[in-house]
Amino acid sequence: MQHLVDTDQFSLSQIEQIMEDAKTFKHNRPPLLLRDKVIVTLFFEKSTRTRSSFEIAGKKLGAAMVLFDPSKSSTSKGETLEDTFTTLCAMEPDAVIVRHSENSTPQMLADMQVTPVINAGAGNYAHPTQALLDYFTMLEHFDGDVKGKTIAIVGDVISSRVASSGIRLFSRMGMNVVLVAPSQFMPEIDLPKYEKLDEVLDSVDVVMSLRAQLERHEIPHFENYDAYAKQYCITKERMDNRDILLMHPGPVMRNIDISDEMLDDLRCKVLEQVKNGVFVRMAILKLLLLDS
Ligand code: CP
Repeated sequence: MQHLVDTDQFSLSQIEQIMEDAKTFKHNRPPLLLRDKVIVTLFFEKSTRTRSSFEIAGKKLGAAMVLFDPSKSSTSKGETLEDTFTTLCAMEPDAVIVRHSENSTPQMLADMQVTPVINAGAGNYAHPTQALLDYFTMLEHFDGDVKGKTIAIVGDVISSRVASSGIRLFSRMGMNVVLVAPSQFMPEIDLPKYEKLDEVLDSVDVVMSLRAQLERHEIPHFENYDAYAKQYCITKERMDNRDILLMHPGPVMRNIDISDEMLDDLRCKVLEQVKNGVFVRMAILKLLLLDS
């Protein structure tokens, strides 16, 4: 039984297979490979993209998707997470996709070895399907070769599970990763670090902007979002005519993370990332439910 807690659980050939399958699914009508499968989504945190992307991915492959809503469940009567999970697993789903605020939850559920567990975002530790869809989007843009390319991850890096998973995956795949953030948002990690965007824009191929998660900080580091945006918003003025791929995992805080104008710019791939997410998640479901 294989799980996906973070991408380091996949071999390089499995990652290659996911990329190939996602490309095939993007360009051809997919077969109903999972028509006899039942997949449960178990999201303890809010989601627009990941939950609906998994639902559409499963349905495109013919799976029945059960969307479990913890806010309407017996968890509000005091049932523990483990008991909720084992109760759902007693109904014999073929996989459970989980999002949770705790870093350790997906691994803890996976260790119970009752059904394949797919991490749809946990704490600030890992969001592996986002990292894989971001990698796919970059491969597609750079004609299949991102080795040696440099990506700047910009913003609230320390709070971001997207950044955590991305840093591990992109470095493993031969990319150079640099971080741009105020010192308070910078994690303790052995990577090139910059405080100012202008210091890196002439030497990067990709900018990944992150949502400023000011609501997660116990001590406010900026007076307000305007003060943050002045330094870190990706604007047309800052990007100028540089040939840089601009990404963001969403949700985007308009004119704080990325300006309206840049969101409409052809270099910005935010919606392409969302589109690719469905095909990448289809490939992940195929790998975990059929090929492993
Ligand atoms: N990128 C991402 O995880 O978005 P959601 O929180 O909307 O799923």
